[in-house]
Amino acid sequence: MSTKRIVVLISGSGSNLQAIINACAANEVHGSIVAVISNRPEVYGLERARLAGIETQTLNHKNFADRLSFDQALMALIDSYQPDLVVLAGFMRILTAEFVEHYSGRMLNIHPSLLPAYKGVHTHQRALDDGAKQHGASVHFVTAELDAGAVILQATVPVLADDTAETLAARVLVEEHKIYPQVVNWFCAERLSCKDGAAWLDGQRLAEPLQFKAEGL
Ligand code: GRF
Repeated sequence: MSTKRIVVLISGSGSNLQAIINACAANEVHGSIVAVISNRPEVYGLERARLAGIETQTLNHKNFADRLSFDQALMALIDSYQPDLVVLAGFMRILTAEFVEHYSGRMLNIHPSLLPAYKGVHTHQRALDDGAKQHGASVHFVTAELDAGAVILQATVPVLADDTAETLAARVLVEEHKIYPQVVNWFCAERLSCKDGAAWLDGQRLAEPLQFKAEGL
């Protein structure tokens, strides 16, 4: 089996990127990150990539007239690296249907909630406002509808009485760093695919997302 070529898209600090870099370095992922692309200049995630000797690119969406022209340029840049897998790791852009279709079945995202709960932004505050007892993160295939593609793996954390959005986000992030490299490896090891709108692992259709339980539950 060939070592899979991964392109990671970021917009910020890149802690999920770091978790995947570390897992590749430890041979826990049968893949190699061939490029990290940010839509924002000078974010720390780019520095993490450079420190790991990974090629970096910045494509600033502000330099494009509209979403479609940005997405077309981004597609051309990504495709120049001939990736097997595109990983969205804190990439804060809504993508056009054309872009999503182009990477159908080979693009993953991590979202900080137990999908289908809390699609979109401010997930931690919304969970607190609702008095949710549990919260978490989900890794899913990307489809044109925002945060609605087949969910593969989720991690659940408890919501504590004195949590703020920040403390809850930090607790969720620890779990994100465990589940994202795991799913990336399943894909790279050719164990995971997306068919008929569902995720399949080891030849089994996942009727429900798999659950990774954090300590303390
Ligand atoms: C994570 O919470 C991720 O779930 C969300 O954006 C955040 C990115 O954090 N999509 P980082 O850039 O990986 O540190």
